[in-house]
Amino acid sequence: MSGLDARALRRDFPILERTVHGRPLIYLDNAASSQKPRQVVEAMVAYYYNHHANVHRGAHTLSTEATDAYEAARTSVARFVHAPEARSVVFTRNTTEALNLFVSSWGGAHLREGDEVVVTVAEHHANLVPWHFLKRARGIVIKAVGLTEDDRVDLDALEAALGERTRVVSTFHMSNVLGTINPLRRIADLAHGVGALFVVDGAQGAPHLPVDVQSIDCDAYALSGHKMLGPTGVGALWARAEVLESMPPFLGGGEMIRKVTVEDSSYAGIPARFEAGTPAVAEAVGLAAAIDYLEAVGMEAVAEHDAALARYALDRLDGVDGVTLYGPHGDDRGGIVTFNIDGVHPHDVATALDAEGIAIRSGHHCAQPLGRALGTAASARASFYLYTTEDEVDRFVDAVVRTRDFFAAFA
Ligand SMILES: Cc1ncc(COP(=O)(O)O)c(C=O)c1O
Repeated sequence: MSGLDARALRRDFPILERTVHGRPLIYLDNAASSQKPRQVVEAMVAYYYNHHANVHRGAHTLSTEATDAYEAARTSVARFVHAPEARSVVFTRNTTEALNLFVSSWGGAHLREGDEVVVTVAEHHANLVPWHFLKRARGIVIKAVGLTEDDRVDLDALEAALGERTRVVSTFHMSNVLGTINPLRRIADLAHGVGALFVVDGAQGAPHLPVDVQSIDCDAYALSGHKMLGPTGVGALWARAEVLESMPPFLGGGEMIRKVTVEDSSYAGIPARFEAGTPAVAEAVGLAAAIDYLEAVGMEAVAEHDAALARYALDRLDGVDGVTLYGPHGDDRGGIVTFNIDGVHPHDVATALDAEGIAIRSGHHCAQPLGRALGTAASARASFYLYTTEDEVDRFVDAVVRTRDFFAAFA
């Protein structure tokens, strides 16, 4: 199907050998969180068995080794997103925290009443709710751009929404519901054309697509480790160094200071200024191992594999009576297939599939405004990754059709 051998890669993921309800697990909830290869777990175990101590604080050998491992992980993230320098990578817990850090710190320092932030109706709540905080605190104006008929961001509407008060354009790399891949460079040019910053929610981009923050020309990019084969508890915010330099701290405490008196404190430079307290060192080590793994497979191959599986699933489901599909058809579509079965609640669809060992997600997918725009509060979502096989997609599609037939019998 693509240059990637999913069957061979699966051997690295022990969880994929288990059964659920007596059936082989088919894990199609990767947009929520991916599974982890042995290499990631083993890197974390090796770190704990051999090197663990607190970072940045000690003169002793273990502390130096832990610090080196942690800083090497920062370099890995920088390399992965093609950032010009590692010091502009800030470790966070996840994308949500990365976006909150940016909005609270940069937005809090630079945005005033009446300043405008442009998003789309298809954002994850992580790229909406932090802006709502600032709307309440500062009176900023949030403008949300709609979608075209084929579930792409309406770029004409986006351009029309920009003006002299626009300070930020913030949107997703790939939609976690529609699979739509945004034309980031084009949006960056539009944003920069009015002097606004361009922020990218890369929660679905970093795991599934090649990321080059320099060719995208964004000002900030947020990602989560757990969606890209890494552990939970670690993510990152990359931002241009000048942008980070202009941001005050987010949390106060150890590690982020230069000098402290009882009365006052001065702050460390970037990135330490944003990493108060003991960080998730083992998790950063795990994320670096995940990045090594993804780089060895090749992100172009991952993107091609995911997209080919989505095309295959969409081809099979398109035209199935009683099934509604969401999202665009085309090259700008990642490995996410969101759908509804007429008259069946998506939670029931997910439960029926789970009975066959197939894990999908159902609900609003943390994108309630998008649900409103699509006219459906909830939907079912299958999301693929590098270990998903065509055979699994076949079994998923067959189960969807069986579920439709099962519920039709009671209609
Ligand atoms: C597009 C998008 N943005 C943000 C997030 C939030 O990610 P996290 O829960 O890892 O912070 C998600 C998670 O599903 C997502 O899909």
